[in-house]
Amino acid sequence: MRAPAYLDHNATSPLRPAVLDAMVEALRAGGNPSAVHSVGRKARSLVEAARRSVAGLVGCLPGEVVFTSGGTEANNLALRGAGHRRVLVSAVEHDSVGKASPDGEIIGVDGEGVVDLGALERMLAQPGERALVSVMLANNETGVVQPVGEVVRLARGAGALVHCDAVQAVGKLGFDVHGLGVDYLSLSAHKLGGPAGIGALVVCNGAPLAPDRLGGSQEANRRAGTENVAGIAGFGAAATAARSGLPVAPLRDRLESTLRHIAPGARIFGGGARRLDNTSCIAMPGVKAETQVMAFDLAGVCVSAGAACSSGKVQRSAVLDAMGVEPAEAATAIRVSLGWNSEPGDIDRLIAAWRDLYIRAGKSDIDDARAA
Ligand SMILES: Cc1ncc(COP(=O)(O)O)c(C=O)c1O
Repeated sequence: MRAPAYLDHNATSPLRPAVLDAMVEALRAGGNPSAVHSVGRKARSLVEAARRSVAGLVGCLPGEVVFTSGGTEANNLALRGAGHRRVLVSAVEHDSVGKASPDGEIIGVDGEGVVDLGALERMLAQPGERALVSVMLANNETGVVQPVGEVVRLARGAGALVHCDAVQAVGKLGFDVHGLGVDYLSLSAHKLGGPAGIGALVVCNGAPLAPDRLGGSQEANRRAGTENVAGIAGFGAAATAARSGLPVAPLRDRLESTLRHIAPGARIFGGGARRLDNTSCIAMPGVKAETQVMAFDLAGVCVSAGAACSSGKVQRSAVLDAMGVEPAEAATAIRVSLGWNSEPGDIDRLIAAWRDLYIRAGKSDIDDARAA
């Protein structure tokens, strides 16, 4: 049977072959990196090689990389570990930022999903404790890229620290964490062709960090627990592979222009803002996201509803809500996300399935759709 066209890389990108090889090698080698004997030293060398590779991808020092169990833990560690009582978070952050800062003050976004810098400036000008500002680099649902450099400039002026969730941006957008100027940066391996269950928090220039779990002295006392050596080795291999970038913009652009031609009312959320090259959040007028996801799945195409929560159910998208999208339109949004193994044929299959469903749904511009 033909393999499905997998267009859900923002959920989890398939494992790259080099990652699998690195993980198998690490699993075979075994050992605890804290042990002083030869097997332990081999495990340690795999961990440190991976640390250098991850550091190289984001332009930090290896010692600034703290391995975690993924992006969720990295976000929690930064938000709790920085030790700030006043936290300002954008309205479009992932739940692992939002829920880790329940008393966080929300920085609004505009209709394209871009953080409101004027609002942030006013919030920072309010008297009170030094703040921690958390703004993601790129959004998981829309791919919209935030002006993090500007956020840092405003925060510095107010003596605030900055955390940036770069889970979706890393490997898709070239950047250097020190150039960006943030204090903390969250990463996750499974968004770039590495395994799930491993990520990192980059802690820049000795920013404060209190560990949120107690135990051994691993990760220079910043994250206790025996290292997931195979996961770390896989993350390192994925980071090395991701350095060559993700040349998928022509595929994404062809998809969007064709769908707009089929259905001029099809809206691309965040389409007017700077976005990741791999992400499209698209509304099919009048057709519920769940219906689309199921129909495309039957046609052998994997995409997700604009907002699929961790239980797999579709819930109202807080991101589209924050952008002021009407709930009825938001309910028709799917997310298409491309990755390292995406091919022109995947886009052809999605376009064909999209056109079929649109016609079956009996839209008024059905003839245009047939002609397209
Ligand atoms: C922007 C963003 N941050 C954090 C996470 C959580 O990462 P992980 O799945 O590694 O815990 C995700 C996962 O979807 C994400 O998209």
